Amino acid sequence: MAVLARTSTGWFPVARAAEVGTTPVPVGAGGRAYVVVRLRPGGEVSAFPARCPHRLAPLARATVVDERLECAQHAWRFNGEGRCVAIPALGPEGTPPPRADLPVPWAVEERHGWIWLAPDRTAAPRPPRPLAEPAVEPVPVPPAPRGPVLGNLDRSLRHAWHPVALSRELRPGGWLQVRLLGGTWTLRRGAAGLLADQPAYGVREHLGLVWLAPEKPRDPPFDVPEDGDRRFVTGWLPPLRSPGAAGSLADAVLDAADHVLVPAHAGGEWRVDSEPGGFRGVRETDDGCRAGYVHRAPFRLRLRLESADAVTTVLFLLQPEDPDSTRLYTRLLLSAGPGAPLPGPADVGRAAADAQEALARALALQARGDAGGLPLSLREELHLPCDRLGVALRRALADFAAGR
Ligand code: FES
Repeated sequence: MAVLARTSTGWFPVARAAEVGTTPVPVGAGGRAYVVVRLRPGGEVSAFPARCPHRLAPLARATVVDERLECAQHAWRFNGEGRCVAIPALGPEGTPPPRADLPVPWAVEERHGWIWLAPDRTAAPRPPRPLAEPAVEPVPVPPAPRGPVLGNLDRSLRHAWHPVALSRELRPGGWLQVRLLGGTWTLRRGAAGLLADQPAYGVREHLGLVWLAPEKPRDPPFDVPEDGDRRFVTGWLPPLRSPGAAGSLADAVLDAADHVLVPAHAGGEWRVDSEPGGFRGVRETDDGCRAGYVHRAPFRLRLRLESADAVTTVLFLLQPEDPDSTRLYTRLLLSAGPGAPLPGPADVGRAAADAQEALARALALQARGDAGGLPLSLREELHLPCDRLGVALRRALADFAAGR
């Protein structure tokens, strides 16, 4: 039996014209995934590739804003020719680079009641008049990243300490079942200390959490100088669960915390240095404040925000439970500075509300991307100078996954 090679040359009917409005419609043409959309009601149809070049978010979740297609992740905007015309993170003076443009199909036409795509240059200048109802090809799954993606079952993650519960969730004499890396452990707190029912390198407590290392860990220590410092008050936010991988959630947390907790209007840029097992980022803002990140692989983040009269530290600690489940622990540590009284309930409430806003944004960001984990190859996505933290996270996790 002859096997027909799939071709992307020619005109492909992809959707009924009446079904395409100002909400992107996923379609397939010649085996490639696109979205078609009208950038103004009743206007001509534009066609775009199915994924945003920045962090590969599906453009089926984009929206039309001011006659542009706006990606749901970081609000990059594209005109009908695929030209990237706005990147909010570059600021009002920033100019998107040409490499941020989308490779649009050669032609899109509305004819005979249908939307037709020609992915590549074709000899026929117009779509053919169909003699019968045209057959529309199934919508292909948008291409997954070609390089390595760090999911929650990656073998390298067995060689690290992971948070698996708040210490207070495991009462004296009690037991607790936890999920980690696709497996289940039953933890017990007995007179001899913490025990795990199935083999593990170790179980311990640190920073108010129970941690478990399935195999000999090679993650670096995670120091929190504020822990135990009597000038700080501390408290936990309720743990959250995300239906995605820890790597992409850590990336979304960096993104969201930078947006919500270190406001962009405060100016300044991140200076980021790689360190063994992680990275350190510092940003001095125009109003004299200082923000600093410490990341330790795989999924431990400390954000410290310093102003003239307050220090706020937020710990984001992630538990990769299953391929589609990550638990996130968030701890706040607040100080009013040397000689000042400890922050009161109102201060704590404000800091908690800010952190919760950042977490809600992170969960929404992660839900709108769906790469199944964090792409580790820096060639897979398009990184700009405003993406320094995300690049540093990818580098650190790529090193960790490779055992470096
Ligand atoms: S703007 Fe599309 S993924 Fe960032």
